[in-house]
Amino acid sequence: MRKTIVAGNWKMNKTFSEAEDLLFEISEQLYDTPPSQGVDVIIFPPFPFLELTADAAEDDVFYFGAQNCAEHDKGAYTGEVSAAMIKSLDATHVIIGHSERRKYYGETGEILLNKVKQALNNDLVPVFCIGESLEDREAGRHFDVIKEQLSEVVFKLSEEDVSSIIIAYEPVWAIGTGKTATTEQAQEMHAYIRNLFAETYSKELAEETYILYGGSCNAKNAKELFACPDVDGGLIGGASLNKDDFLTIIYSA
Ligand code: 13P
Repeated sequence: MRKTIVAGNWKMNKTFSEAEDLLFEISEQLYDTPPSQGVDVIIFPPFPFLELTADAAEDDVFYFGAQNCAEHDKGAYTGEVSAAMIKSLDATHVIIGHSERRKYYGETGEILLNKVKQALNNDLVPVFCIGESLEDREAGRHFDVIKEQLSEVVFKLSEEDVSSIIIAYEPVWAIGTGKTATTEQAQEMHAYIRNLFAETYSKELAEETYILYGGSCNAKNAKELFACPDVDGGLIGGASLNKDDFLTIIYSA
């Protein structure tokens, strides 16, 4: 039986003191009033706040992770952060393949496969993001694009490796636009993705795979989206930067 995951991707937002306030407010609230038993919370702050996040997560009120990791082990890669470094701060998860990384930093399938392997080798759960552009959807190519994004990375891995990966379906046209996928669109794509896992590996693995929705998910629409049978929670951007909105989403899950 899958739980519901509510994950906050802060992207490049907050200063140290703002992060501190938000993290400890969320932590205290979740400590005082835990979310329902079937709900896990994960927070993805920017790299410089990971240690602070570890402190705020001390009572195990939420998991936390990084928004990206290097495709290499270690060495002369100025400005990069390795999966081993992230793991050494007790983080548990790492986002890989966010559409913003693909678009602004040229992250290809080959690079993303290396990053996923780095995460797995360091015992971090990759939250692997996939999603079609508006152009793809309007041209009716959305299913093909999703299949390709999975085939070039996730489906190159063994069933055992894939069993520790979380998928986040984030249609690019819904990210930061206020234009959420309808519950029909989300459910249709999530069911399609789950079926691809069943075809590629097994029905059992497909049933155990977490598929989160991301893209203008907020305090108003989260409950309805999470109620879709194949939507196992959300990867929340903008609404995770506001304590009340994020907590409303967590408690509605
Ligand atoms: P928004 O919730 O701001 O649309 O962002 C979604 C996202 O990209 C999460 O990774």
